[in-house]
Amino acid sequence: MTDAQPVTLTQLKNRAEDIRAELSLDQSSPEELNSKYLGKKGKFNDLAQVIRHVSAEDRKGAGQILNELKLALEKQIAKITVEQDVAPGWTDMTVPGLQPKSGHVHPVSQAMEEVTRIFERIGFTRVRYPEVDWDHYVFEALNMPPNHPARDEWETFFVDAPIDHKFGKVVLTTHTSNGQVREMERLGSTPPIRMINIARCYRRQQDATHTQMFHQFEGLVVDKGINIQNLKGTLDYFAQEFYGPGTKSRIRPFHFQFTEPSFEVDFSCHICDGTGLVDGKDDAGKASKVKCKFCKSGWHEVGGAGMVHPNVLKAGGIDPDVYTGFAFGWGVERTYTLKPGLNIDDIRLFYSGEMRFLEQF
Ligand code: FA5
Repeated sequence: MTDAQPVTLTQLKNRAEDIRAELSLDQSSPEELNSKYLGKKGKFNDLAQVIRHVSAEDRKGAGQILNELKLALEKQIAKITVEQDVAPGWTDMTVPGLQPKSGHVHPVSQAMEEVTRIFERIGFTRVRYPEVDWDHYVFEALNMPPNHPARDEWETFFVDAPIDHKFGKVVLTTHTSNGQVREMERLGSTPPIRMINIARCYRRQQDATHTQMFHQFEGLVVDKGINIQNLKGTLDYFAQEFYGPGTKSRIRPFHFQFTEPSFEVDFSCHICDGTGLVDGKDDAGKASKVKCKFCKSGWHEVGGAGMVHPNVLKAGGIDPDVYTGFAFGWGVERTYTLKPGLNIDDIRLFYSGEMRFLEQF
């Protein structure tokens, strides 16, 4: 890299790494190191000249790389200086060590942990079911017989594997609802059931609010006398715990094959408090209420819910004349992006491997 050529951030980063590596092998005295690396004609200043040849949009990133390099060089030379002050043959155990970079839990994993804790507090048990599963659990036991048109909604990835005469094809799970009948079977078809199933799901979808791999959390409660009020109470509880006091939930009529009645679930927007309006200015510049840009309607949709369909209870060996239940399933990424303080408008960022995004959580 010469300072006559246009310079990319990757090139700059590589050169900064080289300089750090050179210093780590350099046996010169601290004074020599200071002038060689941090002096007027030193390697750092030499590299800093290059910023002139970085494109305007990369300038900020380049400044950050240079700042980090300068700090690292100063820290390393200070450490060598202290070490050389100590008599040869002795090690000064009080010298602070170099801090290795530490990672942290991915934001989506943090969200899954939080969701788990919230539901555990009201008696739900976290379970895990296969993310590569039979058609039977993903569709058929959920009241979607072969060739039923509702199957088209799920944009399924099929696995090239032998078809089982009883369980059908192998698919990548399109939703965590495959855990419903599996949980009924695990408990020997004997309620009460209070499960929270969190897993990866896959669909042939890709845009700012959809990824091919994403996560859902699925709640299922089955017992005698379970009704819509129990579902609504659970939604309100989750809204307050996850989004903060005052957050309300709302259910709207919808259709799923495996619940009847079925709903879409919304949570009130924390920016406009569910009103859809915020303080602003009208076209004439006069103070007035304007549409909330975050939600546009006062509410955010997070997923589906409903009362478990009698056919699903039957598929799980449970008598629908004795027991009833509710279920819900929401996207972890979608639910998380709506948290107060976060303003993430593209969930693909979670899986971009972009450290500048991930390090913020
Ligand atoms: C379902 O998946 C139902 N199984 C939910 C359900 C469970 C209803 C139990 C009734 C009872 P839906 O396709 O709407 O429903 O997906 C639910 C949520 O998952 C969506 O609102 C969204 O938050 C999330 N989601 C769906 N597809 C994607 C995707 N490709 N990328 C990211 N999130 C997604």
